[in-house]
Amino acid sequence: MSNVAIITGAGSGLGQSTAVRLAQEGISIAVVDVNEQGGNETVELVKKHNVDAIFIKADVSKKEDVKHYVDQTLEHFGKIDYFFNNAGISGSGKYFLDTSIEEIDKIVGINLMGALYGVHYVAKAMLENGGGSIVNTASSAGVIGQDSVVTYSATKHGIVGLTKSMVAEYAKDGLRVNAIAPGPTETPMVKEFYEANPKMKENATGGIPQKRLGTPEEVAELVTFLLTSKAEYINGEVIRIDGGFTNTK
Ligand SMILES: NC(=O)c1ccc[n+]([C@@H]2O[C@H](COP(=O)([O-])OP(=O)(O)OC[C@H]3O[C@@H](n4cnc5c(N)ncnc54)[C@H](O)[C@@H]3O)[C@@H](O)[C@H]2O)c1
Repeated sequence: MSNVAIITGAGSGLGQSTAVRLAQEGISIAVVDVNEQGGNETVELVKKHNVDAIFIKADVSKKEDVKHYVDQTLEHFGKIDYFFNNAGISGSGKYFLDTSIEEIDKIVGINLMGALYGVHYVAKAMLENGGGSIVNTASSAGVIGQDSVVTYSATKHGIVGLTKSMVAEYAKDGLRVNAIAPGPTETPMVKEFYEANPKMKENATGGIPQKRLGTPEEVAELVTFLLTSKAEYINGEVIRIDGGFTNTK
């Protein structure tokens, strides 16, 4: 029986690229997203690689939806080997004191609470089956401070704490938990934004030692490495994938 991965935020960007990359390894995918159209598109892309895939509509900020996507995956596939805990939003980019409390709640609800709920339910199911491997999506803003993203940065630093502390409790039981910290990556959304604002792209790439944005495929390659047995002795790590950006700050 093939290995099974749950990916949240799999209807677009890093989640979709990783779904396709894992499918190339013969891994079956539970595609989780609030966006039905994107989720179904990912299922079609994954199935081209002759592996099984299902779409589960869920809002990760709602604990009952999170329990539902875990239950549905277990019902359909019988187990969970890998979890890419990735759904997230960036917010408006306003300075913190200009950001509404409602926006703060929303970002924390999706990025941090969604990730905590996900690990809570998924890790339980994994441990009942002897263990598993989780990759949480942090960000450059999860390892350094940056303006215009205070709430986002707080949630992504939270992801780093979640990653390291889970390992302290459950590595001995067969759980691996790592995080990725991507810099600006050319997902469709970011690409569209920069096409409309070429000056901002120039500013962003100017601060990156490699002078270009990352690609979703590069991130998918890293996630695949970390999730699978190729990284069996890597645990509690936060791997930066940012062309040198945060290391030169
Ligand atoms: N692209 C970048 O430059 C970059 C850099 C660092 C970190 N990240 C992080 O990577 C992750 C993926 O981002 P992306 O760039 O692929 O963005 P994206 O917008 O292309 O994809 C995110 C997906 O998450 C889904 N989503 C949003 N809210 C959700 C919710 N409440 N429940 C379920 N699904 C939800 C969206 O529908 C979308 O399909 C995020 O956590 C983001 O913070 C992205």
